[in-house]
Amino acid sequence: MLKLSKKYCGHNKSLSFASNVASYSDTIEVHNGRGNVKSFEEIPGPKSYPVVGTLYKYMPFIGDYNVEALDKNAWLNYRRYGNLVRETPGVNLLHVYDPEDIETVFRQDHRYPARRSHVAMYHYRTNKPHVYNTGGLLSTNGPEWWRLRSTFQKNFTSPQSVKNHIESTDSIVTEFVQWLKQINITHNEDFLPYLNRLNLEVIATVAFNERFNSFSSEEQDLNSRSSKTIAAAFGSNSGIMKLDKGFMWKLFKTPLYKQLADSQEYLEKVSTEILLERVHFFKHADNNDVSLLGSFLQQPNLDLKDVVGMMVDILMAAIDTTAYTTSFALYHISRNPEVQQKMFDEILQLLPTKDTRMSSEIVSKAVYVRSCIKESLRLNPVSIGVGRLTQKEFILRDYLIPKGTVIVTQNMVSSRLQQYVKDPFEFKPERWLRGSTSYENIHPFLSLPFGFGPRSCIARRLAEQNICIILVRLIREYNLKWIGGELGVQTLLINKPDKPVTLSFTPRNL
Ligand code: HEM
Repeated sequence: MLKLSKKYCGHNKSLSFASNVASYSDTIEVHNGRGNVKSFEEIPGPKSYPVVGTLYKYMPFIGDYNVEALDKNAWLNYRRYGNLVRETPGVNLLHVYDPEDIETVFRQDHRYPARRSHVAMYHYRTNKPHVYNTGGLLSTNGPEWWRLRSTFQKNFTSPQSVKNHIESTDSIVTEFVQWLKQINITHNEDFLPYLNRLNLEVIATVAFNERFNSFSSEEQDLNSRSSKTIAAAFGSNSGIMKLDKGFMWKLFKTPLYKQLADSQEYLEKVSTEILLERVHFFKHADNNDVSLLGSFLQQPNLDLKDVVGMMVDILMAAIDTTAYTTSFALYHISRNPEVQQKMFDEILQLLPTKDTRMSSEIVSKAVYVRSCIKESLRLNPVSIGVGRLTQKEFILRDYLIPKGTVIVTQNMVSSRLQQYVKDPFEFKPERWLRGSTSYENIHPFLSLPFGFGPRSCIARRLAEQNICIILVRLIREYNLKWIGGELGVQTLLINKPDKPVTLSFTPRNL
C-alpha cells in the first residue's frame, strides 16, 4: 500500500462532476472503503520487461500489436484487461475506456493541458530558430503553448468569425461540384484525393485568402503546388506517431525523420511565400480580407515567425482530418439509403434550387445533416482518442496515477460498446436528435472527436461548418452509393480510411 501525503487533498470539488476522483479521505470512505491505494504498476496490462518495457508487443513476429492498427490494439487491451490498461513502451502509458473515468482525467487538466506528441517535429522546429519561434501549437506545452493559443484562437473560434467564412467556403464547394460534373463523375475508384484537393482549397481560402486552383488540370500534375502541399501535409502527419515512439532519429536522420523534415520544409516554403506576399500587400490594407491570416497580422504580440508556425500547423491539421472525416461520413451515408433520403429531404427544404446560396441560417437549420456528422464521428473519429500528459499525481479507480503519465482516452472503442450506446455498430443519426424517439442520453465524454477543454481542436466550429457545407452540396447534387467493401482505419496519428473511398454518383434531377 502506498503512503499518501496531504497533497491528495483538495479534490472535493471534483466529486461533483466525477465519481472516480476523490480527496484522500473521500477515497477511503467513498471509493474503495479499504483505504488501499494501489500503485500504477498494479494496473492490469501486458507484461513489462526491463529495458524494453512493453515495446516488444509492437515488434514484428514477436508482438501481437500493430502500430498502424491502434484501434485493434485498443480492442485487444480492453478484452484482456478491462477499463484501465497500463503499457510501458518507454513511458508510463494508461488507456482509459470508461466515460466517467475519461471525464475524471480531463477534470484533472492543468491550466496548460499538455500532450506528448509531435516530439520529432518539435525537435525539427526548435532547431530552426531563423524560421520558427516555437515548436508550434500542436507540439508545444506550458505557458508558451498558452501564449500562442490565446492569441491565435481569438479569430479562429468565435461563432461570428466562423460564420464569416460560409460564403467563400460555399463558393469553393460549388466550384468543386461543377468540377465533378465537368469530368462527368459516375463512379470513382477513390474519392479521397478529390476530397484532399477540396479541403486544401477551402482551408487556403479561409485561412490565407489564397487560391491553389487545385481543381484545374495543370494542378493535377504531381509536381504542382497543390499536389506537393497535400503530399507534404500527409508526409508530416504520417510519420509523427512512429517518430514519437522511436528515438533513433535523435542520433541520426532516419528516413522517417527525413520525410518529416522535407515535408515541413515544403509547407514552410509555401507558407512563407504566401505570408511575404501578404505582408507586402498589407501595406495597402485590404479591409475585405476576413481570412485568419489577415487577423493574425493584426495581433501586436505575434511576429512573423509565430505566424509561419501557425500556417504550417494549419496546413498539417486541416487537410487530412477534414478529408478523412468527410470520407467516413460519405461511407456511412451512402450505405444507409434511408438516412440519405432523410438528409436529402432536409436539404431540399433548405436549398429548394441547386443555386440557392448557403447562409448561416441554412447551416444552423441543417439539423439532420449535422447529426449525421456527429454520428459518423462517433463511429469514425479521426483520432482513436485524446492524449494527455499528467502534470500532477491523482487517483483513478483506486490507482495512483503518477505525474508524467501519458493518458490516452479510448473514445473510439468505448463509443462502440453496447453498455454506452444502443446498437453501437449501427449508423443512427437520430440518437443525437433531441425530440426523436430514438434519442439517447449519451455520456458527454463518450464521443470527443475534437478533444476537450482549452486544448481541444482550435478549428472545431470551422471544421464542422465546412463538412456540413460539403455534405449539403454533394447530397443536393448526387445520390450516392457505396460500391466498396467494409471500410476500416489505418491509424497514422489520425485515422485514414484503410481502403479506397469507392462511391457511385447518380445526378439528382430535382
Ligand atoms: C474534422 C476535422 C477535425 C478533427 C476531427 C480535429 C480533431 C482534433 C483533435 C482531437 C485535436 C486534439 C484535441 C485535444 O487534445 O483535446 C485537435 C487539435 C488541433 N486541431 Fe483539429 N481537428 C479537425 C480539423 C482541424 C482544422 C480544420 C484545423 C485548422 C484549421 C485544426 C487545427 C488543430 C490544431 C492547431 C490543434 C492543436 C490545438 C492545441 O494544441 O491547442 N483541426 N484537432
